[in-house]
Amino acid sequence: MKTLIKLLAVVLTTGSVITGCEGPMGPAGTAGIDGKDANATCTQCHNSTGVDSVSLQFELSKHAYGETAFEEAGSTGCSPCHESEAFKYVVENNVSTVFTIVPPATTYSNPYASSPDKSYGAMRCNMCHSKLHTSYTFADFMPLTTTAPVPLTFLGGAKTVNLTQDDSKSNLCIKCHQPRPFTNSNTDKNVLNYAGLVSNPNAVFYDAAQSNSLNVLKPSYRTSTHNGTIAVIFAGVGGVEFGTGYSNSQHTTVASCQDCHMAPMTGKAGGHTFSAQSNFNGCNVAGCHATNPISSSTTSVYWKQTRDGVKAQLDALAAKLVEGGVEILGRNGDASANLWAGLTTNNYDGNLNLYDPVNNPAGSLYNTTMFQNPSTSGFTADQITTNSALPKLTLTNAQMGAIINFQLCLRDFSLGIHNKAYTTTLLANSIAVLP
Ligand code: HEC
Ligand code: HEC
Ligand code: HEC
Ligand code: HEC
Ligand code: HEC
Repeated sequence: MKTLIKLLAVVLTTGSVITGCEGPMGPAGTAGIDGKDANATCTQCHNSTGVDSVSLQFELSKHAYGETAFEEAGSTGCSPCHESEAFKYVVENNVSTVFTIVPPATTYSNPYASSPDKSYGAMRCNMCHSKLHTSYTFADFMPLTTTAPVPLTFLGGAKTVNLTQDDSKSNLCIKCHQPRPFTNSNTDKNVLNYAGLVSNPNAVFYDAAQSNSLNVLKPSYRTSTHNGTIAVIFAGVGGVEFGTGYSNSQHTTVASCQDCHMAPMTGKAGGHTFSAQSNFNGCNVAGCHATNPISSSTTSVYWKQTRDGVKAQLDALAAKLVEGGVEILGRNGDASANLWAGLTTNNYDGNLNLYDPVNNPAGSLYNTTMFQNPSTSGFTADQITTNSALPKLTLTNAQMGAIINFQLCLRDFSLGIHNKAYTTTLLANSIAVLP
């Protein structure tokens, strides 16, 4: 903001700067624009209730204060969702999410990546408002960078989500807030056949004792959906759907991300903070929950009972994902490291309970016994000895599917608020499919 104020001060006092340098120009076609006209167009946005106040809200958004835009800069695979220039790149080039074999390779690869020269960029206003400073009028805020339907990278593009309510603005958010694909690490490196987990639940998915060519995927501590699973849960598309009875809550077709996450501010939430935490302004509007307002009170059916119910289901599913007395899901009680601490009684973080002193050195603080890690890369000799004394993990298709569903529902973060009907059925059927 300091640079902005300084630069604007220059622009406002010396109108010639606008036409005379490489800096922001007046609207196209208004040759001979003098300082006054340019200022008038600038101030459509640059005023205390416009850009300035939105910028202050945005400072409270994890898009702004989160650190991943710095940490993942340079990574073409991570950048489509973590870097502003990369996000615009995958949008502009309509980069495919369909796994392909690119000769001379003989195995599949995931094309959903940015290019090396575009894999950077903090998340600022122009990430979502990519037309800023083109016509230099307020109209530049729209259209948003994208509102197009989103082919899910999680499914290698096999299904597309299109949330058309509210001018399809939710599609902007789910382009990033969608899970990442599981891939067949041992075999053809294609996207995991999720439907195969459902059709053949009792088959062995992974067993260290059998040859690697039979184990499509070698589990690791980090075998997971990644963090933003909202697209799948909110749309009710792409869970590992054991059993029957799937339906969606009204939210799926009626509410947009913006309705709840950009509602009028209260506390640290709403507007361009993009947070919905403790902000019920979006819920309690006419046509939605105005007549029976929702709150966090213990008697609130929609809030408290939904969330308590989903938490209990997550707890129950975790309790079934146990083998020989050892939990398959890892715990992490450190709320600074586990984004989902508190969402389950035992503070699962969605990662697997495999011994991994390299990536999860604090694991033993929270898990009394762990499974042996099939990979010991980076381990010391002592750690390799410790690892080989641990029990080996085996997984059935049903267990793998249930793990995926657990991760999808935990990491959706809303404990059923996004889509109660789909979440509760996905969890209930996952619990039921396990012995
Ligand atoms: C469509 C609304 C809009 C209009 C019109 C507009 N700006 Fe901006 N401008 C923005 C936004 C949004 C930002 C980014 C603010 C932020 O990052 O907090 C910005 C940032 C800037 C910056 C700071 C750049 C930086 O890197 O820090 C300058 C300088 C600037 N604008 C000058 C102008 C001038 C001069 C005009 C008129 C010729 C103008 N703007 C018109 C929306 C607008
Ligand atoms: C370019 C990808 C991208 C887009 C587009 C995007 N987000 Fe995000 N969002 C992220 C990433 C990445 C983070 C986490 C940043 C970090 O921790 O460094 C995040 C964080 C968040 C958080 C905070 C989550 C937490 O753990 O506290 C919320 C809420 C959120 N986004 C909502 C939205 C909404 C609503 C939209 C649409 C208006 C949206 N996002 C659009 C990538 C995106
Ligand atoms: C398909 C989009 C997508 C891709 C690709 C992706 N991420 Fe993310 N990532 C997200 C979103 C969205 C969030 C924030 C989720 C939330 O907080 O609800 C996130 C969160 C994170 C966080 C947690 C940040 C925090 O707040 O603690 C880390 C770390 C991270 N990502 C690393 C990576 C790395 C490393 C890669 C590449 C190997 C990667 N991501 C690829 C979407 C993506
Ligand atoms: C993660 C995406 C995202 C980012 C980043 C973002 N915005 Fe927005 N912005 C939106 C969305 C979505 C809307 C539409 C909200 C609605 O429909 O309620 C919007 C609406 C606006 C509007 C109202 C425009 C209109 O035509 O009514 C302004 C002004 C605005 N944003 C300014 C900013 C500024 C300034 C920044 C940076 C400080 C910023 N935005 C960053 C997504 C974003
Ligand atoms: C009906 C209201 C509603 C809608 C619609 C909605 N959300 Fe949420 N969202 C919530 C609530 C409530 C939470 C949990 C906040 C809390 O824990 O206090 C949440 C949590 C989240 C989080 C984690 C936030 C955090 O602070 O860690 C992200 C990211 C998110 N939602 C993204 C989205 C996206 C993307 C969409 C659109 C597809 C969406 N939400 C639609 C209500 C909504």
